[in-house]
Amino acid sequence: MVVKSSQRSTFRPIDDEGYPQCWYALILSEELGANQIIGRDLCDGRVIIYRDSAGKAHVMSRYCKHLGADLSLGEVVKDDVRCAFHHWQYGPDGVCSKIATGDKIPERARLISFPTEEKWGLIWAFWGAEPLYDLPSFHPSVDLDQFIWKAYEIPLKEKLQTEPWIFGANAFDFQHLKALHGLADVDPGTIAWNQYDIQYGSGAIIFYGMGASSSHGEGIWIGLDWDTAYLSAGAPMGRDGMKIFMVEAASKGDGSEKDLKKAESMLDHMHNYHTDVIDQDVDILNTLNLDEPGLLVESDWGIARYLKYVKDYPRISMAELVGMAERGA
Ligand code: FES
Ligand SMILES: [Fe+2]
Repeated sequence: MVVKSSQRSTFRPIDDEGYPQCWYALILSEELGANQIIGRDLCDGRVIIYRDSAGKAHVMSRYCKHLGADLSLGEVVKDDVRCAFHHWQYGPDGVCSKIATGDKIPERARLISFPTEEKWGLIWAFWGAEPLYDLPSFHPSVDLDQFIWKAYEIPLKEKLQTEPWIFGANAFDFQHLKALHGLADVDPGTIAWNQYDIQYGSGAIIFYGMGASSSHGEGIWIGLDWDTAYLSAGAPMGRDGMKIFMVEAASKGDGSEKDLKKAESMLDHMHNYHTDVIDQDVDILNTLNLDEPGLLVESDWGIARYLKYVKDYPRISMAELVGMAERGA
């Protein structure tokens, strides 16, 4: 395939404000206890994460609409979050439910309440008013009842200070898979470029928006003699860098003690393998020069097509989401 000059012109497809509207995994389920409010940076904003009285997780914008106190310093009161400063209270829908003084609640006293899900040992939020696609999942052919699995955060050697699209581009940068990671030629054959997902060949790897991917049968092509699968997810978390979580799964085999032991060792192997591979990327991605256009060549066809996907992908900023929430939109 000949790379057209328009594709050659840039490795920086977006100048727009805002972040891709994706499902992002923010935190491990086990990190969020009852009565806890955790504050995190997310995309170009900040959020809180807490559980209501039934244990359901919620992700909302972080600053009180009264005078801007950080709600992660507040308290959970039944299903609500109460601001530490003057005790304004917000329900899980983000709407102010109570002002301690009994004053009339202003119309615009509404936080953003992000669509939130908890699955695979992770708490996820959709960056947008409504999810544009279903929560990322293991491939339907993976029967998790026949697998053992665990979720963890990749312990990177340094913070990954990059945006989701740059991290995502790795998967379509076939030159680097060989040169940097030493993988054999990875030829996905065909790639399906859909509106909110990208699929290698038969769906062996699916990329969901720019926030997650899943793979089945990976064990075979990284040289493991075992049936494994994974779901990888991450989020751009400002000062904390981009967090990357893995949910790794290995077949129980025939369910015997021997096979279960083997499955455990496969999970360890995958943990080390994925951590090493991403560690190899970190300092390179952190120091890329994005101010000058890159020169793509024929072998970069995957990157060239991916850049178009990124350019076309819907984005939204925190400021837009705040405005929508205030209007009750
Ligand atoms: S700043 Fe939150 S109640 Fe006043
Ligand atoms: Fe890489």
